[in-house]
Amino acid sequence: MNILVTGGAGFIGGNFIRWMRTHAPEHRIVNVDALTYAGNLESLRDIPEDDRYCFVRADIRDRAKMDALFTEYDITHVVNFAAESHVDRSIVDPEIFLTTNVVGTQALLDTAKKHWKTAPEDKYSREYRDGVKFLQVSTDEVYGALGREGKFTETTPLSPNSPYSAAKASADLICRAYAETFGLPLNITRCSNNYGPCQFPEKLIPLMIHNCMEGKPLPVYGDGMQIRDWLHVSDHCSAIHAVLTRGLAGEVYNIGGNNERANIEIVRQIVHVLGASESLITYVKDRPGHDRRYAIDNTKITTRLGWAPAYTFERGIVETIEWYRDHATWMEHVLSGEYADYYERMYAPSFTRQTSESR
Ligand code: NAD
Ligand code: DAU
Repeated sequence: MNILVTGGAGFIGGNFIRWMRTHAPEHRIVNVDALTYAGNLESLRDIPEDDRYCFVRADIRDRAKMDALFTEYDITHVVNFAAESHVDRSIVDPEIFLTTNVVGTQALLDTAKKHWKTAPEDKYSREYRDGVKFLQVSTDEVYGALGREGKFTETTPLSPNSPYSAAKASADLICRAYAETFGLPLNITRCSNNYGPCQFPEKLIPLMIHNCMEGKPLPVYGDGMQIRDWLHVSDHCSAIHAVLTRGLAGEVYNIGGNNERANIEIVRQIVHVLGASESLITYVKDRPGHDRRYAIDNTKITTRLGWAPAYTFERGIVETIEWYRDHATWMEHVLSGEYADYYERMYAPSFTRQTSESR
């Protein structure tokens, strides 16, 4: 496979590249990322560029660039992680969520269709090159919020509540339309909340770990009783690999590990593991439109694709806390903004070298 991984400098995309290098190193990965505030190449600094991995700074909305990449690398698979991903930011400034998450996805779908269709000019043809696939990385948030009972299945109606989840649901629907109308071979995955190494510290778990280590207040929204279904990021990566290689074209797969926790429970656990004081816990004003509970029914992916998570939450959260404790410089660079200069420091000299050598 020649895989275009979009958003590979982000949390899950970066972990996916690392997972693939370990578990399926025979495939070529082209990591395309615009390096927004959430893109951090320092997370991948130990992965050398070679004939099986390269990084290209580009925006998925740049159709000419996506077209050129498909040609240059003979792309056979797309795993589309690239997105604006933070709910709180979508409440403050929704527009970028629509342009990146919806229009960006459509630009990629069009490019894939053009390159993979065997008769691109024939609008009635539904024939594609053998083995190609587009995988849209979506989220359980497209289903909206649950009450005390029940879980999201793949047939739960979409009912997104935030600008972020509405944009992700819109992208899911445009993907569905490309499968139905054009026969484009694709899958949509809808995963629950991820945690693990290299997550931007605006999200609950790394934010709480960092604040706890610094002795700062731990801001819990509302009553802290909102429930999320947590999955270690490496289990999300193995699930994506399962869908990419074994998923039936046109199908949606939910991904989750049956691990529901209230936010306050997670925060208390972090406080406990770090030996901090619960007096740091500070209840703050609730997030507008805050979804009360998410829970994934993972029957389809476990029974049809034989996927199962490897991590228990108890092991995963302790390892994750240790990772952030052992990578203080990574966190320091993210918080100081220094990580944003990494690309210039690492890549600008090689561009200069290439230019002077080619003269
Ligand atoms: P992230 O914010 O950490 O990373 C997103 C990456 O996309 C960044 O590297 C950013 O630079 C890049 N990007 C943003 N706009 C771009 C554009 N226009 N062109 C190219 N690159 C662009 O997000 P994440 O948490 O790693 O999430 C990745 C995907 O997984 C998202 O699509 C998200 O909706 C989905 N998801 C996340 C979770 C979770 O818990 N984090 C759970 C389920 C699904
Ligand atoms: O469910 C999957 C989704 O999980 C992904 O699609 C999103 O990209 C990802 O950001 C995540 O969304 P959440 O809104 O659930 O994650 P977040 O880490 O922002 O918040 C988790 C819970 O913790 C949520 O109920 C809000 C609460 N929270 C969050 C922060 C940042 C707090 O109480 N305090 C905080 O400071």
